[in-house]
Amino acid sequence: MAATEWPAGLLAVPATADSASFVLRRWHQSDVEQLVAAWGDPEVAKWTNPPAPSMEVAKRWIAGWQRRSDTGVALDVVIDVDGKVAGEVGLASFVAQRRAATVGYWTAPWARGQGLASQATHAVARWFLAPGGCAGSALLATCHVENQPAHRVATRAGFVKLGASPSDPQTVVFACRAEIP
Ligand SMILES: CC(C)(COP(=O)(O)OP(=O)(O)OC[C@H]1O[C@@H](n2cnc3c(N)ncnc32)[C@H](O)[C@@H]1OP(=O)(O)O)[C@@H](O)C(=O)NCCC(=O)NCCS
Repeated sequence: MAATEWPAGLLAVPATADSASFVLRRWHQSDVEQLVAAWGDPEVAKWTNPPAPSMEVAKRWIAGWQRRSDTGVALDVVIDVDGKVAGEVGLASFVAQRRAATVGYWTAPWARGQGLASQATHAVARWFLAPGGCAGSALLATCHVENQPAHRVATRAGFVKLGASPSDPQTVVFACRAEIP
């Protein structure tokens, strides 16, 4: 089923996480320089395949945030620490029939190693799967086999390792199937 068949308007940003250290929110145009910097980070570039970093492309990408959310193409959530973009948790590849999606994440170099990616991914996953949230039935995370920090984030966020992707042995698949604690 096409991503656009996910019910329009169903996706809403969870207001906050259960953590005093960060807030989850939508992208704003004022974040554009931080987005360009993140896309240009070697680790983000290596593992997440972002667009070539430019102000123009980043402005357009942020301008498309509402449309992507409303049409169920993607829900990209900023991990905000004291007003700064510490990272992102993104939902995409929605399969409406199965109420399933895929999650991706990155953190800015200055924000790494503090548990932010794990905690924010856990918060988004819990919201996605909760009956009072998005009522999803399954959330997947796919990581390159060599990207051990990404594996750790998935595990700490409550995902279970399923194993290598049938279509790509270099990709490891993790899943959350029910509401997580
Ligand atoms: C992977 C990434 C999101 C981790 O972000 P983070 O905010 O540092 O993650 P956390 O602080 O929540 O740490 C989660 C776990 O990863 C481990 N970790 C983080 N960086 C690591 C590193 N460079 N090497 C080894 N382990 C690392 C932490 O020790 C922790 O594991 P633990 O529970 O065993 O202590 C971040 O390094 C990043 O943005 N990488 C580039 C983009 C990317 O790879 N995205 C995932 C694509 S699938």
